[in-house]
This record gives sequence, structure tokens and C-alpha cells, in this order.
Amino acid sequence: MYRARNATETESVQRGAVRGPDAGIEMILRPFSHTEPVAISYLFGCGGRGCGAVVDPVGDIETYLRAAEASGMRILYVIDTHIHADHVSAGRRLASAAGARYVLAAQVTGAGAFETVRDRDVLELGNVSVEVLHTPGHTPEHVSLLVTDRTRAHEPWFVMTGHTLMVGDVGRTKALPDYVEVLPGAFSGSVCGRSLSGKPFSTIGFERRHNAGFRIDEEAAFVRFMSADIPVPPPGAAELRAVNAGLAA
Ligand SMILES: [Fe+2]
Repeated sequence: MYRARNATETESVQRGAVRGPDAGIEMILRPFSHTEPVAISYLFGCGGRGCGAVVDPVGDIETYLRAAEASGMRILYVIDTHIHADHVSAGRRLASAAGARYVLAAQVTGAGAFETVRDRDVLELGNVSVEVLHTPGHTPEHVSLLVTDRTRAHEPWFVMTGHTLMVGDVGRTKALPDYVEVLPGAFSGSVCGRSLSGKPFSTIGFERRHNAGFRIDEEAAFVRFMSADIPVPPPGAAELRAVNAGLAA
């Protein structure tokens, strides 16, 4: 059962018994909202088989380790959707502490321990499968994650769009069905987007109807639209990307 939770609810789960209220059910999804930087991380996976993944972790890794334990899930993968430019990712530290694989897009030029994924690769989490979509735009290496819970359907249920925010690669996102939920990695206040909504979640269908970038079919016009009013890079962007790629300490 899909149950989006806010940070307060997540904390109450963490304070609970070692086997949380969701142990034994199928899909588990925990969003974690952050304000510095503005970002959303996710723990999700298969409660039935007790395995999951963390996407775009920020800050204290204990938060994710405790949430995974409370949900009865072992973290198999820690995935960064892209090389972040506004904060130091917690991905490597979390993967190391959890004994998980740290996953980045194949286009990343980096150092240190990580595994790479390409467009259409599939990561298995028990009854949950995660298809990698290469969605360049925000950054060249950016990937989105299309998630299917096979206990519910053999069709995708939601897509984690990181900072692609629906418009990094319209061609790919347009191909998704309207009912697919969109779970981005940022919301209003993020330095990584323009005029973002304070409501972080949406659907492909709603964005298709109401997102200005989505309504542009002609490639040159889309490039013009996306190139206008680009936010200034956050302070130290190049250095942070080097650290996150493992190329600098
Ligand atoms: Fe970003």
C-alpha cells in the first residue's frame, strides 16, 4: 500500500518499535523534506521482501538508517539522480554505512567507489523494480527512476524525477502515462529550479496539462524556453560537483 508520509510522521515511525507499522506490507515509500538545501530524499522499496533503496540522501545518514530499520528494510542501493551542485551528497557515506551499492549514472566522470547505471537498466528491490531513465537537461548525467510495484500492477506507479522537474527531457517524460505520479527531488525555494510549486508532488497528466515546458513540442522553442531565466549557480557549485563526483575531498 502506498502511503506518503511527511517528516513528522516519519519521525514517529523512527521512534517506534524496531519492526515498524509497515513491516510485512508491500511497497514502502518515505519522503524526507529538507530546507538547507531545499531538497527531498526518498527511502522506498519492498516491505514484503525487506529491501529498499535511498535516493538523493542529504545530511544525517542516521535518519535513513533508522527509517530503514524501522521499516524492516535492508538498503541495497543508494542512488544520486545527478551530481549535486548545492550540497555535499550523503550518498557515499550512507552506502558505506549501510553496506549498500552507491549508484550514479554512467555518464559521471568520477572517482571512488560507485556503480554505474545506463538508460533502461533495471534495479530489483524484491517485488519492486526500478527502471533507470536517462533524463539529461538539468545536468548531462541526470537519471530519473521509474518505479513499479509488481504486487499492485505490472505498470509503473511513480517516477522520481530528481531535479529534472518534468522538463529536463520532455520527450521521455511525455511518453509516460498520465496516471504516473511524479516525485521530484526539490520544491519551491530550491536553487535548482524556476518558479517551483510549494507542493512537491504531482502527476504526469497534471504536468502535461499545466506545466508550460510540457506544452512546447518544437525542439528549438523548448531549448529557448529552458535557456531563459536560468537561476545563477549556487555558491561553490563547481567545487561541490567535484566533491560529489569523488574528484575532490
Ligand atoms: Fe540539482
